[in-house]
Amino acid sequence: MPDTANLEIGDDKYSLEIITGTEQEKAIDVSRLRKQSNHVTFDDGYGNTGSCESAITFIDGDKGILRYRGYDIVELAEKSTFLESAYLLLYGVLPSRSDLEAFKQLVGGYCDLPEEVVQVVHAQPKNAHPMAVLSSGLQALGGVYPQFCTNDRKKDLEAFDQSAALIISSVRSIAAALYRHVNGQALPKAHSDRSYCGNFLSMMFAQGDGGEEVPESVQNALDLIFLLHADHEQNCSTSTCRMIASGGANPFASLAGGVSALWGPLHGGANMAVIMMLNEIHESGDDGSRFVESAKQGKSRLMGFGHRVYRNYDPRAKILKSACDQALAALGVSSPILEIARKLEEVALEDSYFIERKLYPNVDFYSGIILQALGFPTDMFTVLFAIGRTPGWLSHWKEIAETGKKIHRPRQIYQGETLRSYLSLENR
Ligand code: SDX
Repeated sequence: MPDTANLEIGDDKYSLEIITGTEQEKAIDVSRLRKQSNHVTFDDGYGNTGSCESAITFIDGDKGILRYRGYDIVELAEKSTFLESAYLLLYGVLPSRSDLEAFKQLVGGYCDLPEEVVQVVHAQPKNAHPMAVLSSGLQALGGVYPQFCTNDRKKDLEAFDQSAALIISSVRSIAAALYRHVNGQALPKAHSDRSYCGNFLSMMFAQGDGGEEVPESVQNALDLIFLLHADHEQNCSTSTCRMIASGGANPFASLAGGVSALWGPLHGGANMAVIMMLNEIHESGDDGSRFVESAKQGKSRLMGFGHRVYRNYDPRAKILKSACDQALAALGVSSPILEIARKLEEVALEDSYFIERKLYPNVDFYSGIILQALGFPTDMFTVLFAIGRTPGWLSHWKEIAETGKKIHRPRQIYQGETLRSYLSLENR
């Protein structure tokens, strides 16, 4: 395969280097194109643009492959846990038993939310969206630990083990605090000896002093969801985190931005939109066929379907689809919307509109059904996505801070008014 690409613009010829990744992905390096040719590239939505070289997560969208630091998501889903996979993403290796225990202790040590952060959560308008509260809570958390967010990369990297554990622990506590606040309840004390998910579920739903332990099967269902969401290379919110990190800002600022980017219905907000779509179909008495027709006519979107990268089944959706049965059985609940989801998938996957556009279920299509069965309110689903994605976002902040990449500053093609003279008021 050639290692250069030749570009001709008029009579001028340019030779551009071809970069090859460890999984044989190819990229044409245009880093010097403007200097050489006075041209920039244009790629609306960055669908054909590699913004960076990264060693964290690999996706093959055509084959439906997802790997964290080289480990396949199917194997991790079967054998690993959320915190172990978080460690893998952060540090690039699976932890030894002692390292994993130490990491769990570090995360567990931060499970009680600082009072200042609780106050920020309580100060939010009651109808503020949970994602807005989470983003504010993260910034407030940084304010409680100024030594972890100095915006001096060297210092912030030295503090990273502590700040990463603090943030991974606190995003679930902020989520529980906002849920309790909206329901007029105090946030119970955390139990640092419990699992990450066991603690979170108690903080969310336990009555009284939160004494009872949540059944392991329920903890495992949530742990799997967090693990599957832990990273996904350069998606909209992770690229936002990297953009903010490239300016030298600290992890709290970077993740507060990532939360805001994830909020949108085309991205992390899709898991909420899927449940609302399935409930709407259920209430209308449609088995899904009518809805698919409306999606094909562009009147609606089949939320939870389609993906910028996957042109095959999202491997996370496959895992979640089978996990639905186990989770619902363990919880002893049935879900009418699960049958609708299955029917929607069956109809869509046989329909030429979806086949031609390579639209398959993505991670959001089934996740909400499990979250609903676990008792989470729909408007918190994207917060749960953010909790899962936190280790990934932190890993990308660290990769930018360690590699010292220059600030991200894309170019544009200006299409506005050309030069014109000022018109005084009388002449307008
Ligand atoms: C996530 O990037 C990541 O990695 C994200 C994520 C992660 O882990 O971080 O995987 C998480 O965000 C998953 C995606 C969640 N979003 C949804 O489920 C929302 C519904 N899906 C779409 O809106 C859409 O598929 C996107 C946004 C996910 C991808 O959009 P693209 O790649 O920009 O594709 P497009 O909008 O240009 O659509 C191409 C065609 C269009 O039809 P034509 O103009 O060619 O006729 O496919 C159609 C679209 O109308 N299409 C859909 C559709 N998705 C695309 N038609 C009906 N229903 C859909 N869901």
